[in-house]
Amino acid sequence: MSTQKEHFSSRLGFILAAAGSAVGIGNLVGFPVNAAKNGGGAFLLVYGLFIFIICLPVMIAEMAVGRKTGKQPVGAYKALSNNDKLWGAAGFIGVLTPFMVAVFYMVITVWLFGYLALTVTGNLDYLASEKGFGEFINSPYLFAVMAVVALIINFILVAGVKDGIEKAAKIMMPALFVMLILMVIFVLTLDNAMAGVKFFIIPDFSKITPSVINGALSQAFFSLSLGMGILITYGSYINRDTNIANSAKLVAITDTAVAFTAGLMILPAVFSFDPAINPDDLSDSSVSLIFTFLPKIFLALQTSIGYIGASIVAASFFLLVFFAAITSLVSIIEVPVSYLITEKGHTRKKALSTLLMTAGILTVFATLSFGMVSFFTEFVDYAGSTHSFFDVVYDIFYDTILPLNGFLLCLFVSYRWKKHNLSKELSIGSDGYVGSWVEKYVNFSLGTFIPVIVLGVFLNTVAQKFFGYSLLGF
Ligand code: PHE
Repeated sequence: MSTQKEHFSSRLGFILAAAGSAVGIGNLVGFPVNAAKNGGGAFLLVYGLFIFIICLPVMIAEMAVGRKTGKQPVGAYKALSNNDKLWGAAGFIGVLTPFMVAVFYMVITVWLFGYLALTVTGNLDYLASEKGFGEFINSPYLFAVMAVVALIINFILVAGVKDGIEKAAKIMMPALFVMLILMVIFVLTLDNAMAGVKFFIIPDFSKITPSVINGALSQAFFSLSLGMGILITYGSYINRDTNIANSAKLVAITDTAVAFTAGLMILPAVFSFDPAINPDDLSDSSVSLIFTFLPKIFLALQTSIGYIGASIVAASFFLLVFFAAITSLVSIIEVPVSYLITEKGHTRKKALSTLLMTAGILTVFATLSFGMVSFFTEFVDYAGSTHSFFDVVYDIFYDTILPLNGFLLCLFVSYRWKKHNLSKELSIGSDGYVGSWVEKYVNFSLGTFIPVIVLGVFLNTVAQKFFGYSLLGF
């Protein structure tokens, strides 16, 4: 049982690793676009409230369950429920979810790496051209890129918790912060940048509708990597003298600060490219923004800083997002890895090769579903249109199932493991916890309104995505 003995070397190492998981494509692209479309400062306010009122208690509970048991979701739910089969099944969804999320997150990470490689080799103009993205996602060359990304993941994870996950986060996260700040400074010097900043920050409360509120909560949940078993698994590697509630707060603050800062990078860039742009016209998906819209913006910079300058800016951006994606991907894959090690007795090496092989095959299918193979491209019909294999995995596992897992966690912690046990675990490493208002708030909210709200979000998302019908009347 080697994993149980593996630990992060310090509180900072743990916080950086958890922040590495949380900070991803959702922060760097998804958040700025959502904010711009949905009322700027008004969206920021709603989102910020959700992070602290709803997500933070869930995050604290996940970490506590992990540290208490030293296990991933299946082992943790079983250990704290006297081996109850139903809770074991809930834990299993908590391991299956990241396994499937890894599939599509890998596809996007591979694209990012491919874009980085093409930009560095002087092909930014190709990527910005009309045919660029469409040809790129159907190129056989992607499978070579996929092999390289799989090797990078394997290289990090095979080294284990301290020498792999923690070390990667300690190198990539500070690099990411520096690159992000440099990009913001650069972007703010562009013409018309302030129009973007204004659009991002000035509140427009008329845009806040029930469906925007639903979306803000899904975004917050996803952004903090909740409902994926990740913080349970990472929690299983924290030392007993770590103050969980405070660490969780720092992770949430870092994640939110990065999302906010990313808005100061993306929106001024978009507005300087096209001062007349209406953010409502930006596509809903982060994917098309990164891969089709941003390359055009970068290329347009060549008039002021030349083609090489523009390529350097683009490459820095892709490297930044690639780092964010790798530290997230590592955390996603660690959950099933830890499951195979602790439940099935695999060595870390064997667990990794099993996973990279199985998830790898599904990733290949997902990659083929953008036109290369029609079986995967036209996989299934629902909500009035045809969806590819990638779409199905994305729709089920990206944001739909996360609130359901969050709901199960709230019930589990409050009514099966019980609140006094949660308090006891959280008081370890935090002398003043018991009796504090944080304790009262965490225990009250997890047992009452948080499960009700996340269940509502789950049901509404299912109705919208799979049946084309919104329970909120939108
Ligand atoms: N939180 C990451 C983001 O904001 C994505 C992610 C989700 C990572 C779930 C791990 C698990 O992009």
